Amino acid sequence: MQSDIQQTFQPVQSSPQDAWAMQIPRSGGYEVFERVKIPRREPGAEEVAIDVKACGVNFADNLMRMGMYPEAPKMPFVPGYEVAGIVTAVGSKVTDFKPGDRVMAATYFNGYASFAVAEQDKTMPLPDHLSFEAGASLMVNFMTAWVALHEMSRVRKGDHVLIHGIAGGVGLAALQIAKNAGCVVYGTAGSDDKLEYAKSKGLDYGVNYRKKNFVEDIRLNVGRRPLDIVLDPLGGDNIAKDRKLLKPTGRVIVYGMANAVKGAKANPIVSLLTGLKMFHINLLSLFAQNHGVYGLNVLRMWPFPIMHEVGQALLVELAEGRLKPSVDKTFPLEQCGEAHRYLQDRRNIGKVVLTVDN
Ligand SMILES: NC(=O)c1ccc[n+]([C@@H]2O[C@H](COP(=O)([O-])OP(=O)(O)OC[C@H]3O[C@@H](n4cnc5c(N)ncnc54)[C@H](OP(=O)(O)O)[C@@H]3O)[C@@H](O)[C@H]2O)c1
Repeated sequence: MQSDIQQTFQPVQSSPQDAWAMQIPRSGGYEVFERVKIPRREPGAEEVAIDVKACGVNFADNLMRMGMYPEAPKMPFVPGYEVAGIVTAVGSKVTDFKPGDRVMAATYFNGYASFAVAEQDKTMPLPDHLSFEAGASLMVNFMTAWVALHEMSRVRKGDHVLIHGIAGGVGLAALQIAKNAGCVVYGTAGSDDKLEYAKSKGLDYGVNYRKKNFVEDIRLNVGRRPLDIVLDPLGGDNIAKDRKLLKPTGRVIVYGMANAVKGAKANPIVSLLTGLKMFHINLLSLFAQNHGVYGLNVLRMWPFPIMHEVGQALLVELAEGRLKPSVDKTFPLEQCGEAHRYLQDRRNIGKVVLTVDN
């Protein structure tokens, strides 16, 4: 889908004044990245050029590195969906930004870099009270969580919401949005520490899935079908389990297939089996149980005007202090492989961000 914006470069030794990026030359493990020099190109008419100070690391970046992400450009390419930094130049039709402005932007790809170009309508002002690291942490996570809860689920006060991966980047964003909407929030995570952290941020009921079966535990302690909404980034047979807890009119929002990932490199058999298990969702069973299942791909939503509205809503929430980004750990851009390892070893509580010293 993104081949028109793909940029590939030859590896070189860069001097400090060059713009540079971390490129994935071929699929591989954490060590596969290489540093490459990139041009400081002029922005197009509706584009904004940015000196990048920080860029967000997303779970999908790991999939891209492993060659498991169909929408990624052909290798070699520079990953990175989102950046924060300072505007250096703007195109002739840009009215909302000027050089010197602090911004955050969705770049689709090419964000693991000291310099990036973003479209004006995918760039937002970075609120004064937020650091560049915070700015690089929030667009993908908060927009995904907002679309899942407000646009797809049409969340209402008093709804009971289960969020898998509650202590991850999207998970903690969704927790804040759901609590602000007046929901009762349940969450799953792979450690007690993660659940404790989420409880300190308002989680009402947590299940450590390594110790307990979340369906049985919630049924036993909360009720047979307590849930209005489930946010599911895991995929595979998890969706059938989610539906065992759904009330009639309940809906599952599926936005990932983390269950397809085992280890640092691609495992085609695990991926295939995870995908096949999702074929169990059929319309007749939804019909019979009055359930809904949504698929969410925020990357594919970005070209649509609704994302501008979502961005504006988030800016209001951030300005009023109702939403707060949770940056767990930063790594220098050159250590992006280590950042991937940290994420994939499931050590993060909140967002992992790369910092750029340019
Ligand atoms: N569709 C979209 O538009 C969209 C947008 C953003 C994110 N996402 C998806 O949302 C999920 C969360 O993304 P994120 O960037 O916020 O990541 P994240 O949740 O900050 O980090 C990954 C966490 O996922 C859990 N996990 C589950 N299975 C895993 C596996 N096989 N390998 C490693 N970790 C695993 C781990 O938490 P536990 O220890 O608790 O298991 C880990 O800490 C991902 O599946 C991602 O692809 C989708």
